Amino acid sequence: MNKKTVRTGIIGSGFSATFHYEALSRVYGTNVEVVGVHSKDADGGKAYAQKRGIRFFDSLEAILAEVDAIHVCVPPMFHEPISIEGLRRDKFVVCEKPLTGYFGDGSPDYHWERADKKAALAAAMASVGRLLDAEKSSKGRLLYAENWVYSPSIQKEREILEKTGGQILWIHGEEAHSGSHSVDYAFAARCGGGVLIGKGCHPLTAALYLKRVEGRARDGRPIRPKSVSARTHAITRLPAFRDEGHIRATYYDIDDFSTMHVEFDDGTIADVHASDIVLGGIHNWIEVCANNHRALCNINPNTAMQTYNPVEANFKDIYVVEKIGTRQGWACTSPEEDWFTGYPQEIEAFYRTIAYGDPLESDMPLAADTILTIYSAYLSADRQGAAEQVPQWA
Ligand SMILES: NC(=O)c1ccc[n+]([C@@H]2O[C@H](COP(=O)([O-])OP(=O)(O)OC[C@H]3O[C@@H](n4cnc5c(N)ncnc54)[C@H](O)[C@@H]3O)[C@@H](O)[C@H]2O)c1
Repeated sequence: MNKKTVRTGIIGSGFSATFHYEALSRVYGTNVEVVGVHSKDADGGKAYAQKRGIRFFDSLEAILAEVDAIHVCVPPMFHEPISIEGLRRDKFVVCEKPLTGYFGDGSPDYHWERADKKAALAAAMASVGRLLDAEKSSKGRLLYAENWVYSPSIQKEREILEKTGGQILWIHGEEAHSGSHSVDYAFAARCGGGVLIGKGCHPLTAALYLKRVEGRARDGRPIRPKSVSARTHAITRLPAFRDEGHIRATYYDIDDFSTMHVEFDDGTIADVHASDIVLGGIHNWIEVCANNHRALCNINPNTAMQTYNPVEANFKDIYVVEKIGTRQGWACTSPEEDWFTGYPQEIEAFYRTIAYGDPLESDMPLAADTILTIYSAYLSADRQGAAEQVPQWA
């Protein structure tokens, strides 16, 4: 096979820009040439570039002029403008999660808890619409970087659904840990909300994806979300919260616990929890209860490897598993965390789409359904869990 070459650029030089680069360096079906990086943080961007032997670009325009594709690895409030600029110039845009959202009214005392959630839903919907329009009139495409879709256990479940014609009756899942590292994450104005969007988007998109797979495989049409009921809480901001230093408790206005109950258009259901109040390492899983099988997809932790370490210091140079508080005692040590998380498979698949036009699993419609379900969930939470219809973007 003659491998095509794709010239690519990274936007942002923080946490996600790092694992995107790692995954890019493992792409094997396409020659990927990472041309450079552009970051608002010029010092961080230059250090990122130097470490990897790539160029630093001091503007989005400059990097766009030299690449076929970009990776949008910046806080969510910038996803829409940067993605639209890329699409406008016919680039392929790999956009981190969440696709987009509502980022406040610009006032200095903006506070998510007091925000009008109906207006937030309308604004998120308008943003989704602009992104869909931009993709429609572009020769490029938006590839939605939801790694859960590409994680091996979710892809195995896709195969089971496609080959058995199973019907999913109930999905439940969760993403949780003890708090995000990101400064921006504390502010809904930068991230579009709190844990419900920041973490909840992962298991939610996986659930929406699997119902889409099921519907297409059996009946030739996707099964879509119809309504959602949700509750959100800010546990670490409660006056009664007793901080022992293990859980991040420095959020400004966001929810740190959320639960969503989704009803699909075939009447089946999904329950998705997301929280920042759980100790013991990252907890990312989804369970599928179907009419012909049941599947527990343990993304992280999983029992591919378990270690027992009697002395903390012995493992000082050993990466164990994401967000674990201690390396002592028993641990679900991940021998290949990125692989279980789906990062390399996601980027490999994206570059096959970019270079050869392969079908795209995690696309704009899936991202759009995720965003509209999430903001309907926030509206529901504002109404103490009353069911809200999920608006259709198309
Ligand atoms: N899929 C996953 O598992 C996963 C994990 C973490 C973060 N994320 C997503 O990745 C995105 C970035 O998060 P992060 O953890 O990398 O944040 P981060 O704070 O570590 O890095 C953000 C980077 O973007 C740069 N930046 C900010 N605004 C910019 C702009 N307008 N133009 C250019 N550069 C800009 C910053 O200088 C910084 O280098 C978020 O959307 C987040 O939700 C996804």
